[in-house]
Amino acid sequence: MRRAVYPGSFDPVTYGHLDIIRRAASIFDEVVIGVLRNSQKTPLFSVEERVKILKEVTTDIPNVVVRSFEGLSVNFVRDCDAQVIIRGLRAMTDFENELHMAQTNKVLMPEIDTMFLVTSLNYAYLSSTTVRELASFKSDVSAFAPPAVVKALNEKFSL
Ligand code: PNS
Repeated sequence: MRRAVYPGSFDPVTYGHLDIIRRAASIFDEVVIGVLRNSQKTPLFSVEERVKILKEVTTDIPNVVVRSFEGLSVNFVRDCDAQVIIRGLRAMTDFENELHMAQTNKVLMPEIDTMFLVTSLNYAYLSSTTVRELASFKSDVSAFAPPAVVKALNEKFSL
């Protein structure tokens, strides 16, 4: 079983994330989406909400599993019995931080590799931060995130 983990905050999941999830699911037997519970950050959506939304928007992809985790990504990857970490690369601005993380993770757990998928051009500009900000100003974000996210954002900002 070739299993990969796609770790992230997913606060909230965007069409850019979904593009990476679909493509990873076509490469691996199973893709585990790892939603980080980060006690040092105050997310817009709780981990439970993010997991629920991710499950909803990936129901049509049979080999995708959604779980939450705390602590180091590499420990979660090992616990999942996976061999690969998936990360999306949008632009050079992502690269330095992603390279740093991949190298650190490789030192921590040499048996785990990071695989980068280049985000499709139409989503290259997109981020959860932008989606959150637009929604907070009551702007329509349906071009950027699936309907379940739009609904959840509308409820958060009570449109
Ligand atoms: O969606 P994000 O916020 O860009 O995802 C970042 C994430 C969750 C992959 C990264 O912050 C992470 O792996 N956090 C867990 C802590 C960890 O493993 N740190 C060591 C990496 S250098």
